[in-house]
Amino acid sequence: MATTKSVILIILTVSSSLLFPISEQFSNCSPINPMNITNCKKLITLGAEFGWNIHSNTEIDILLTIRMPIKWIAWGVNPGPQRPQMVGTRAIIGIQQPNATLAVRKYNITSDTKLGCRLQPSQDFDDVVVKNMRGEVNPGYMSISATLILPRAPAVYDISKLNHVWQVGFEADDVLMEPKMHSTFLQNVDSTESINMTSGHGLSVGHRRHHLRTVHGILNIVGWGTMLPLGVIIARYFRKCPIPCEKWYMVHVSCQIVGYILGTAGWAIGLWLGHASRHYSFSTHRILAICIFAFTTLQMLALRLRPSATDDYRKYWDMYHHFLGYALLAVISVNIFHGIAILKPNKTWLWVYIGVLGMFALVAIGLEIFTWSKFLHAKSKGEQQYAGQTGQSGSGPQGSSGTEPGTDPLPGSQ
Ligand code: HEM
Ligand SMILES: *[C@@H]1O[C@H](CO)[C@@H](O)[C@H](O)[C@H]1NC(C)=O
Ligand SMILES: *[C@@H]1O[C@H](CO)[C@@H](O)[C@H](O)[C@H]1NC(C)=O
Ligand SMILES: *[C@@H]1O[C@H](CO)[C@@H](O)[C@H](O)[C@H]1NC(C)=O
Ligand SMILES: *[C@@H]1O[C@H](CO)[C@@H](O)[C@H](O)[C@H]1NC(C)=O
Repeated sequence: MATTKSVILIILTVSSSLLFPISEQFSNCSPINPMNITNCKKLITLGAEFGWNIHSNTEIDILLTIRMPIKWIAWGVNPGPQRPQMVGTRAIIGIQQPNATLAVRKYNITSDTKLGCRLQPSQDFDDVVVKNMRGEVNPGYMSISATLILPRAPAVYDISKLNHVWQVGFEADDVLMEPKMHSTFLQNVDSTESINMTSGHGLSVGHRRHHLRTVHGILNIVGWGTMLPLGVIIARYFRKCPIPCEKWYMVHVSCQIVGYILGTAGWAIGLWLGHASRHYSFSTHRILAICIFAFTTLQMLALRLRPSATDDYRKYWDMYHHFLGYALLAVISVNIFHGIAILKPNKTWLWVYIGVLGMFALVAIGLEIFTWSKFLHAKSKGEQQYAGQTGQSGSGPQGSSGTEPGTDPLPGSQ
């Protein structure tokens, strides 16, 4: 069947585009480039751009640029082999001065820093040598650059899997050169990776989590947020009026099945993400997600458990199925906005989803107006023709007795 084929096609395209991450590419280095850096890439968070030159296995130049109005910018290397993290980082931090220059210093970041002790500039590090520290600040961006000489032994710094972290903050004491604590949004705690400087690829847990979070968002917006409302619109408007389509039931069911499969996959990933995150738990988001899954599963059971069209209970069952369907759409959109808020300050998600909702709203309002105008038109015609007769003249546009448009029973005969 054509519909089955297209359903399979949709599932295949969506899942394949999600399973294989968009391969990270070198990007063009921005013109703000005091050290003639040739390798650049966008980092996964904070809109950061990272650039580097390799002089030898132990000597590299680095450049970090962030386009945000910030007070301090930081970048550092972390000895392996454990995963990249804040504690243990040999960092260089640039702090904006009142005269609009950037003062750059070295900082040894320890567990005391994380506990809230003051972070002050340190002398040379025990292992890593840092030279040529420079910083630039402009209204739109801030950048720091330096040359690093990594110790040959012990071989904890390996440029084919170098642990590095980056961070920004909005508060600092510019006299004492003391950066104050950064925010702890997802962006800030995900700003670590292990980079292979030869290939430019990032490899780390934070990376996988970041990618899965994107997959989770896309699957849920497409599954719960797009396919389910699309299926509802088809069931409501394409049954008999205003645009009758014989295949409506099959298309409705197909939309709901595809939406349910994609949404459930996204939901499962979400549960895993919630389980794996050390920093956060988002209980409202989680509880709503579990309710959505449970009640959508109940709706899907309609496929098997729906009473037949002739059954006495059928009318009540339809009311229940429709009510739960609309309520679910509302809860789903609330939870999608909730999820998007967790990702702030990234606005792309918000605009994409508002676009999806706006499109559905336009289509639904258009079809609703069309339905009612057709209904009222037919009614006034009917009243002229059958004046004085009792009968169908008071019924809804679908011609079923006494119902509003769109609430008449699903055909039970399929
Ligand atoms: C200025 C003083 C700083 C304080 C008080 C501070 C505090 C913290 C705290 C409490 C966390 C844990 C957040 C959570 O678990 O929810 C954290 C995470 C993090 N910080 Fe900082 N931080 C400071 C400076 C820096 C600097 C300069 C950098 C970068 C060089 C940095 C990079 C990170 C990163 C990458 C994480 C997430 C990964 C991890 O937890 O190890 N922080 N910070
Ligand atoms: C960068 O390149 C320009 C022109 O090629 C040169 O004048 C400048 O000295 C170079 N800067 C560094 C830090 O190598
Ligand atoms: C800016 O101020 C810092 C200290 O606050 C000083 O060291 C530096 O020389 C000043 N730079 C300029 C260009 O005035
Ligand atoms: C930096 O901190 C580490 C502990 O994390 C310590 O072993 C090391 O000696 C410190 N280095 C400097 C230069 O302060
Ligand atoms: C780093 O990338 C290079 C070039 O693509 C590759 O030959 C090397 O095996 C990679 N190293 C690691 C540790 O992934």
